[in-house]
Amino acid sequence: MNERERKRLLSIALFVIASILHWKVVSSQTVPGDVQILQRLLKGLKNSATLNWAGNDPCGSNWSGIKCQGSFVTGILLAGLNLQGMVTADLNKISALQYLQLQDNGFTGSLPSISGLKSLTEADLNGNNFDSIPNGFFSDLPSVERIYLDHNLLNGTSGWSLPPEIQQATQLNTLSLFNTTLTGSIPGFLGNMPNLKNLNLAYNKLGGEIPLSFSSSNLVQFQANNQQGPVLTGPLDVVGSMQSLQVLWLQVNMFTGSIPAGMVNAISLKDFRLNDNRIVGPIPPGLTSLPLGNFTVQNNLLVGEIPKFEDSVNFRYEGYSNRFCQATPGIPCALEVASLLALLGGFNYPTQLSDWGGNDPCNGWSGIVCDKKTGKVSIILLSSYQLNGTISPAIGNLMSLTILKLNGNHLTGTIPPELTKLQLLKSVDLSSNNLSKPIPVFPPNISLNVWGNPLINTTSTSAPSPSLSISDGSSGSTSTSAPGPSLSISDGSSGSTLIHVNGSKTTKGLYRSSTIPVVFIVGPVLGVVALLLLCGAFFFIHMKRRKNSRVQTPSRVVHPTDTAGADAQIANYNVVADINSRHSIGGPSGIYVFESAEFIIPMHVLHKATNSFSETNIVGKGGFGVVYKGRLDDGTWIAVKRMKTGAVSSTGLREFQAEIDVLRKVRHRHLVAILGYCIEGTEKLLVYEYMPQGTLSQHLFDCGINGKKPLSWKQRLSVALDVARGLEYLHGLAHQSFIHRDLKPSNILLTDDFRAKVSDFGLVKMAPDNDYSMETRVAGTFGYLAPEYAVTGRVTTKVDVYSFGVVLMELITGRRALDVKQPEESVPLVTWFRQLSVRTETFQHSIDSCIDVTQGVLSSICVSAELAGHCTGSDPYQRPDMGYVVNVLSSFVEQWTPSEFDSEEETFDLNLTLPQVMRGWPQASDTFSRTFAD
Ligand SMILES: *[C@@H]1O[C@H](CO)[C@@H](O)[C@H](O)[C@H]1NC(C)=O
Ligand SMILES: *[C@@H]1O[C@H](CO)[C@@H](O)[C@H](O)[C@H]1NC(C)=O
Ligand SMILES: *[C@@H]1O[C@H](CO)[C@@H](O)[C@H](O)[C@H]1NC(C)=O
Ligand SMILES: *[C@@H]1O[C@H](CO)[C@@H](O)[C@H](O)[C@H]1NC(C)=O
Ligand SMILES: *[C@@H]1O[C@H](CO)[C@@H](O)[C@H](O)[C@H]1NC(C)=O
Ligand SMILES: *[C@@H]1O[C@H](CO)[C@@H](O)[C@H](O)[C@H]1NC(C)=O
Repeated sequence: MNERERKRLLSIALFVIASILHWKVVSSQTVPGDVQILQRLLKGLKNSATLNWAGNDPCGSNWSGIKCQGSFVTGILLAGLNLQGMVTADLNKISALQYLQLQDNGFTGSLPSISGLKSLTEADLNGNNFDSIPNGFFSDLPSVERIYLDHNLLNGTSGWSLPPEIQQATQLNTLSLFNTTLTGSIPGFLGNMPNLKNLNLAYNKLGGEIPLSFSSSNLVQFQANNQQGPVLTGPLDVVGSMQSLQVLWLQVNMFTGSIPAGMVNAISLKDFRLNDNRIVGPIPPGLTSLPLGNFTVQNNLLVGEIPKFEDSVNFRYEGYSNRFCQATPGIPCALEVASLLALLGGFNYPTQLSDWGGNDPCNGWSGIVCDKKTGKVSIILLSSYQLNGTISPAIGNLMSLTILKLNGNHLTGTIPPELTKLQLLKSVDLSSNNLSKPIPVFPPNISLNVWGNPLINTTSTSAPSPSLSISDGSSGSTSTSAPGPSLSISDGSSGSTLIHVNGSKTTKGLYRSSTIPVVFIVGPVLGVVALLLLCGAFFFIHMKRRKNSRVQTPSRVVHPTDTAGADAQIANYNVVADINSRHSIGGPSGIYVFESAEFIIPMHVLHKATNSFSETNIVGKGGFGVVYKGRLDDGTWIAVKRMKTGAVSSTGLREFQAEIDVLRKVRHRHLVAILGYCIEGTEKLLVYEYMPQGTLSQHLFDCGINGKKPLSWKQRLSVALDVARGLEYLHGLAHQSFIHRDLKPSNILLTDDFRAKVSDFGLVKMAPDNDYSMETRVAGTFGYLAPEYAVTGRVTTKVDVYSFGVVLMELITGRRALDVKQPEESVPLVTWFRQLSVRTETFQHSIDSCIDVTQGVLSSICVSAELAGHCTGSDPYQRPDMGYVVNVLSSFVEQWTPSEFDSEEETFDLNLTLPQVMRGWPQASDTFSRTFAD
């Protein structure tokens, strides 16, 4: 090889090397598309200087936070740099991107879409101020394993929901959406994603239940705590089969049902939080064998024994509503309590029995009556409690049980044969349930009633009448009485509505009184049958009257409290209907027709009736104005509520309209009826039926000092029942549900025979259709305000139940709800009364000294006191509903005063309260109108 050739070869080699070098340089130049996108990202930053991105070769010139492979950008790692501004929307065009870490900055605007990033493994966009999520964000992400979007309030108030395309991200292991205004319900498809291990949905706006699909998921960490409204609900059964869980946070929601027994199989569970829900039942003892570090259950409705965990476990169980039987972990419940809780478990721990807590069933447990002498459970009285489930055989451990009444529920399963072994048992009423055969053989001295269980088809007459009693199978007698309007249910075992448990003297005991009035509650089936029969009878009468009314002259004015009021009012509906069909309003005949929508009464009529609003006609004054009594030309007494003139604020007007609107819809014998209204100039007047005895507060307090004869206990009880019936109607029986919000004695008016009607619906609120309570401006009267309403403004029908409880306490004690004359700690009647009820000795001294306390009276006062305590429970869920109150009170009133409740009057009442019947009379319900002569 000569010199030239060597030189040529060398130059070729150099050229090749140079070419290779050149090619290398060219190849490390970042792909232009990625560069442009990163430059747009930089441009969008308000503080771009922090990044020092110079030149146009991120991969070659080592830009901070950018990772490359070859000339492709694979990582954008910009966490926690306080970057401000918007992120360019085409970030997902960086085709090889694997890691996108923008967390903990101050980015705003829309989240950059990650859709279509086929290599993307991790997207950390959490902790910014992104405010919306673009459509398709989650689509086409075949490699993604981790997505974090926490703490970005996405899509404002409307929020957003997880789109189904996320299911195609089959490699997804972690999805963290903590505090991102996620709405709707938890999508079921999340439970079917096989690689999903960590799911954080906490602090969102998710409602509904945990989807069933989650039971087969492989989640290791599942957080859905603290939903911000709506909240998660439903039972926890699903999580009971999620056995790979290590972290389960469900606290601060409204989960119900009990802690699933299956939780003990989640053998890796380390952190389990259930506090602040509505979880019932006991804590499964097996949980103590789990490797728990944290376990929180405070503020639920748990009962039973507190299990003893290792000291290393951070176990939190206290809280206002848990009712464990002992205060200390590891100490078992009393035997009777354990048996009753097993019974409760059979009923699925219903919330209406959430007062079954503590270690003494004789201390105020709903439906439990104890024998004073032995202090043992003697009677279980859970008629018409809407109970589900089965009767636990554990009932066979209640050795002192004498009477068991579970009629009128929805119980299924069989009757436990253990019952037949109870020596003291006398009567078992299981009628109107859904129990099945076989029926165990009871000894002949036990009366068993199983009527109305379709699966146990005992012989029965073809048409059961409302008054039906079936005695035990041994005698085989089945007696029925003729159908009729009287609603009396007798009981095969005693034939009377009062049972003396052991015949000993009445004692002071409040909860253990030996003379125990037993409430016989009409089972819903019987009730419906009775009502149907009554309606039938009534319809017949109605048709007859309707015929008669056609020939009457339409000018009759009906006195609302007229003894013939019932007849007359019915007749009158038809009369008015006839007039309406002729559209005659006013006119030469001197007849005014109050049209359905208006009920307008001319001012001059009211002027004349009230003697030009004379001082002597004033019967009451309120915050909004003055009430006058008045008399129409035909002799009808009316009450005219005249709003303060000048004070026609928008509030006043709103309340005025609210009252008219409500009164138009609400008609009941125990609610004060509106006759009409008048607006003229600045004057606003409401015309009601006149209640001659004024308000309950005028009769109740100060024991005769005001010259009025004190009300007897019988009268008080009947007032309470009337009020309860009025409220029950408001809450549920009217076409819609209403809440009064301001029940108090000065809003309870009395007729001449001391029957009560509830008045003043100015504050009535229509109850929501669903279970969620409404938040409103708090209105009402201190001393009667339910605590949760006073604190949060949330109003449910239970607010009225609370006020009713206070009124009942006032009826018992004759003391005002707020009595400033009392020592400071006993100023609120409720506080004083509720602590008093437990100390039974002092209870008798608290009874109004005006009441003549005989034996029968005392026992019904005791039960009423218990009822009042129940109604004023601090937890609204523990208060009974008015239907229950009516059942309890009516059992006393009916046994004392059957005559007041007989046929005609009650018939009328039932028809007025029954919406179905009202629907049968379009003219009566749709156009309530009335005539009167000037
Ligand atoms: C790139 O920058 C980092 C720090 O910013 C430095 O440690 C590294 O040596 C640089 N690499 C090159 C090839 O310049
Ligand atoms: C939710 O995110 C917002 C905005 O980042 C923040 O202000 C708020 O404190 C977060 N809430 C919780 C509970 O972390
Ligand atoms: C969120 O808001 C963005 C922009 O307003 C809109 O395009 C998108 O459809 C919304 N996403 C959802 C899930 O509602
Ligand atoms: C228990 O909770 C604390 C505080 O929230 C936490 O630091 C700890 O890691 C938890 N322990 C377990 C075992 O999860
Ligand atoms: C009875 O069962 C039904 C359906 O299972 C349920 O919706 C209802 O809440 C239950 N009632 C009680 C009192 O648990
Ligand atoms: C009672 O049940 C049996 C089957 O269990 C059935 O054959 C019979 O017809 C039923 N009788 C009545 C009156 O329903």
